[in-house]
Amino acid sequence: MEKVKITLVPNGPAKIEGEIQLQTLAGDVLETKTLTYLCRCGKSNKKPYCDGTHKTCEPFE
Ligand code: FES
Repeated sequence: MEKVKITLVPNGPAKIEGEIQLQTLAGDVLETKTLTYLCRCGKSNKKPYCDGTHKTCEPFE
């Protein structure tokens, strides 16, 4: 199994490098690529993905 690397970007998303399976609470499997950015600020309009909105937020880390 190939390792997945997760990097927490300061005041930004979780950068995930590698293949992952992303599943919602309802059980739906979302499309992912080998490079995925997940929102950590809670303000993205494309949750769970980061859409850059964190740049307008107060620092959260
Ligand atoms: S971390 Fe980028 S929009 Fe939330």
